[in-house]
Amino acid sequence: MCISKGNISFIFFLCSFILPMHSDKEALLPAPQNISIFSTNMKHFLTWSPVIIPGETVRYSVEFQGEYERYYANESWIPISECSFIIVTQCNVTEDISATVPYNLRVRADVGTQGSEWGTLKRLFNRNTTLLTPPRIKVIADGYHLLVELEDMGPAFQFHILYWKNGQESSVQKMMVKEITSAVHLDTVEAGTDYCVKVQTYVEAINRSSNFSQTQCIRVQDARSTWVTITLISFAGFIMAALVLPFLIWKISRIFEYSCCPVVILPETLKVAEPTTKLFLRGIEKAEYCDMSLCVMTPEEVFHLWIQDTLSYDL
Ligand SMILES: *[C@@H]1O[C@H](CO)[C@@H](O)[C@H](O)[C@H]1NC(C)=O
Ligand SMILES: *[C@@H]1O[C@H](CO)[C@@H](O)[C@H](O)[C@H]1NC(C)=O
Ligand SMILES: *[C@@H]1O[C@H](CO)[C@@H](O)[C@H](O)[C@H]1NC(C)=O
Ligand SMILES: *[C@@H]1O[C@H](CO)[C@@H](O)[C@H](O)[C@H]1NC(C)=O
Ligand SMILES: *[C@@H]1O[C@H](CO)[C@@H](O)[C@H](O)[C@H]1NC(C)=O
Ligand SMILES: *[C@@H]1O[C@H](CO)[C@@H](O)[C@H](O)[C@H]1NC(C)=O
Repeated sequence: MCISKGNISFIFFLCSFILPMHSDKEALLPAPQNISIFSTNMKHFLTWSPVIIPGETVRYSVEFQGEYERYYANESWIPISECSFIIVTQCNVTEDISATVPYNLRVRADVGTQGSEWGTLKRLFNRNTTLLTPPRIKVIADGYHLLVELEDMGPAFQFHILYWKNGQESSVQKMMVKEITSAVHLDTVEAGTDYCVKVQTYVEAINRSSNFSQTQCIRVQDARSTWVTITLISFAGFIMAALVLPFLIWKISRIFEYSCCPVVILPETLKVAEPTTKLFLRGIEKAEYCDMSLCVMTPEEVFHLWIQDTLSYDL
């Protein structure tokens, strides 16, 4: 357009004047490259290679265009506010890709007032191409109940559950779960049998299913064998208690004995060899002594004391 016959300096003048006016910003920065979208289980992320400007912080802004904008809104683009002037080279576009139609996405780099041209996806993205991974599952047998815990993959996901008695693959039971709870109750089942479970996800919005998870099998315990186990454990516990308790009681009684009624060292004059001469120790003295030290007495001893007290008052 600028190359033609005529005054070269005039053309130079025109070119240096007109060309920069083609874009609102000076396009000195290279546009972001390698723009790709990674989509797994209906979560979509746009990524690109960084634009490196030594000593500068490059910021990126992302916009998208759905079918509506392309055909009915003058090919307009919608900025993604969470991904405006960001410094990372990734944008979560899950919320913006809200219909199963082809989307276009573009990224621009900025340093200060300098902006780059837009870099655009090479191929339009449709969310029906998302990679659906098999769900993680955990099979549980609780008494006679067969349960399965499912990975929470978000509200778009339903689960097709298949379960069967191991060795009877011909009679497979099916179950469909639309809303995830902590654990899904599959069935009340026979004890002492192996049950197997496998699950796939289904996303209605794109009419697609994941592959099935690995088959997980579990043995449903026989309630009788559970009872035997419980009995054995209880018995072991009882034996332990029977051995340990008397020892504990003996130990505790010893402790109380020593702290309550310490052995009293009597003066030599009061020491006597015969236990029957205990009465030399006057009853009142003994009673006083015991009051202060919380001593346990046998009923006979109490009776003896009472007799002695009564006698001494009478005197
Ligand atoms: C784009 O990706 C290719 C391979 O992953 C890499 O070799 C190339 O350097 C990237 N381009 C930029 C501008 O980073
Ligand atoms: C599309 O552009 C035309 C002309 O540029 C304009 O008349 C029309 O109002 C625009 N429509 C929308 C939806 O912006
Ligand atoms: C991406 O956005 C979706 C929808 O807002 C959200 O559920 C998801 O957790 C986000 N993922 C990450 C890695 O931020
Ligand atoms: C996704 O949808 C498009 C139509 O919008 C269709 O042509 C394409 O086959 C679909 N792809 C998958 C994997 O379902
Ligand atoms: C979903 O896809 C199956 C084939 O995989 C097709 O038979 C069925 O009609 C589709 N359902 C809808 C609602 O598009
Ligand atoms: C699903 O299973 C088939 C056959 O085993 C395999 O070829 C395919 O790659 C699997 N798809 C996914 C998404 O893992």
